[in-house]
Amino acid sequence: MTALLEVVDISKRFGGFQVIEAFTFHVAEGEALGIVGPNGAGKTTLLNLVAGDLRPDRGSVHLAGVDISRQSAHARCRRGIGRTAQIPRPFEGLSVFENVLVGSTFGAVGRLRGTTEAVAVEALRTTGMIDKANVLAATLTLLDRKRLELARALATQPSVLLLDEIAGGLTEAEVLELVDTIRGIRATGVSIVWIEHIVHALLRVVDRILAIDYGRKLIEVQRTNTNAAFDLAGELMSAKSVSEAVELSAAHARKQFEAITVQTRELAALAQKVAAETSEPIKESVASAFKKVA
Ligand SMILES: Nc1ncnc2c1ncn2[C@@H]1O[C@H](COP(=O)(O)OP(=O)(O)OP(=O)(O)O)[C@@H](O)[C@H]1O
Ligand SMILES: [Mg+2]
Repeated sequence: MTALLEVVDISKRFGGFQVIEAFTFHVAEGEALGIVGPNGAGKTTLLNLVAGDLRPDRGSVHLAGVDISRQSAHARCRRGIGRTAQIPRPFEGLSVFENVLVGSTFGAVGRLRGTTEAVAVEALRTTGMIDKANVLAATLTLLDRKRLELARALATQPSVLLLDEIAGGLTEAEVLELVDTIRGIRATGVSIVWIEHIVHALLRVVDRILAIDYGRKLIEVQRTNTNAAFDLAGELMSAKSVSEAVELSAAHARKQFEAITVQTRELAALAQKVAAETSEPIKESVASAFKKVA
C-alpha cells in the first residue's frame, strides 16, 4: 500500500507550551488508523494540523505526494481531507439536507463526482440520515448530530476522513450503530484516521493504533493475524493507569486460558470418537495416552 497521507516531524507550540512535538505518522490508501491518548494529549491539535485549522511550526503534511502544510483548511478539504468535529456544530437553522449540501457544494469544487444534490443524498443514505433530510438540524439527538457530522464530511468526497471522538457521549447500542456506519464508509475505500476514547469501538474498525501523550508518539501497533493480541495492545495503550493495564492483562490471560481449555476438551472428545471407531491396538494406545493427560 502507498502512503496517502504523510505527516512528517510536525511540531506545534502554543505560547510556552509544546503541544505537538516532532510527530510523524502515515495512512495508506484504504487504511484505518486509530489514535488513542489521555485528555489533553494533543489529539485534536494533531487533527487540526492535518486538516489545516492550524499550521505546524515545523514539519510537513502531504496528501497523495503533495505538500499541503501551508494550505488553508478549505483548500485541504477540496484536495480530499474530510473531518468531523469533536463537538458537532451544524448550521442549526438549516435542514439536515441543506447542511450536507453545503459540504457537497463547497467542499469538493472541481473534483465532485456527481451533482451536489446526488452526492448529498448519497452521504445521507450512507450515514442513515436520509429519513431525516428535512428535519431542522437544531432538533437532532446527539447520535443524529454525529451522523450529520459524518454526512457533511462525506459529502466532500474525501480520500481521508478524520474523526475526532465521534463515539463520545453515545449509548453502547448507538456506538455499535456508528461503528457499522464507519465500517461501511471504510469499505468504500476511504482512508480513516479515528481518534477515540472508546477503544472497543475503535478496535472494530482500525488496522493500526498509535498512542499519543504530551504531544509525542509513544507507540504504534499493527494488527497482525492474531486479533486477540492487537485488541489487548489497543486496550493497554488506552489504559488510564498501570493498575488498570495489569487488570486488563490478567482478564485477557484468563480469557485465553478458557479458550484453550475449551479447545483441549473438544480435541479430547474428537480423539475419543476417532478411537472408538478404530482398531483395538490403536484404541488402547489412545486410551492410555488420554489417561496420562487426564
Ligand atoms: N488554541 C490553543 N491555545 C492554547 N492551548 C491550547 C490550544 N488548543 C489546545 N491547547 C492545549 O493543548 C493541549 C492539547 O489539547 P488537545 O485539544 O489537542 O487535546 P486532546 O488530546 O484532543 O484532549 P481531549 O481528549 O480532551 O479532547 C491541552 O493542554 C490544551 O489545553
Ligand atoms: Mg480532543
